[in-house]
Amino acid sequence: MKQIKGVVFDLYGTLFDVHSVAARCESFYPQRGREISLIWRQKQLEYTWLRSLMRQYQDFERATEDALVYACQHLGLDLTDARKQVLCNEYLRIAPFPEVPAALQAMRDSGLPLAILSNGSINSIDTVVKNAGLYDQFAHLISVDAIKIFKPDARVYALAEQMMQLDRNAILFVSSNAWDVTGAGYYGYPTCWINRGGSTFDELGRRPDHIAHSINALADLLTAAQVDC
Ligand code: LAC
Repeated sequence: MKQIKGVVFDLYGTLFDVHSVAARCESFYPQRGREISLIWRQKQLEYTWLRSLMRQYQDFERATEDALVYACQHLGLDLTDARKQVLCNEYLRIAPFPEVPAALQAMRDSGLPLAILSNGSINSIDTVVKNAGLYDQFAHLISVDAIKIFKPDARVYALAEQMMQLDRNAILFVSSNAWDVTGAGYYGYPTCWINRGGSTFDELGRRPDHIAHSINALADLLTAAQVDC
């Protein structure tokens, strides 16, 4: 980790818990909250990948809304416009994982510039980060919206290298999403997979360079490496 001069994070599922929407789903559809949230997230990701392949970009908020409609239809649940609005707005208020604020501060204190590179629209990223009070921690909030294609397209990973003005070898790319770690690794970033729950890494021909079980554990690795230098 000694060569690392900056850190780029994925947002959804890595710094922020997408399944924090499950509680609101549960309030509308008792006993179904977790199930809705899981299908909702999986379809949201699929729609971004499929739209990229089909060259039919619509922003992440649209993928989120379409995926919610799918999830409810699939489960035979009635989704009124009012409920759809409330649940999609909930995605702008998702919570950071508990260790994230202090861990980001520790990395900042060790002198590392931090950025987010997300499939979210710039409005979504800004709102989510501001709602959590974490806006000041980041040097850059980078959205795919500028180039209208989603991760794991290599052109998206290039955006972070341009914005950070660091060589890709000096940027650690951090994600809980195995497919995202893999895409970033193929682009040329050193990578860290945040594996909070004993998940299985994808079989896509690459392994992460580092694995940590939380952003805290990553901060410990990085700050120790900075002190060693
Ligand atoms: C992100 C999602 C896809 O890019 O995890 O933030």
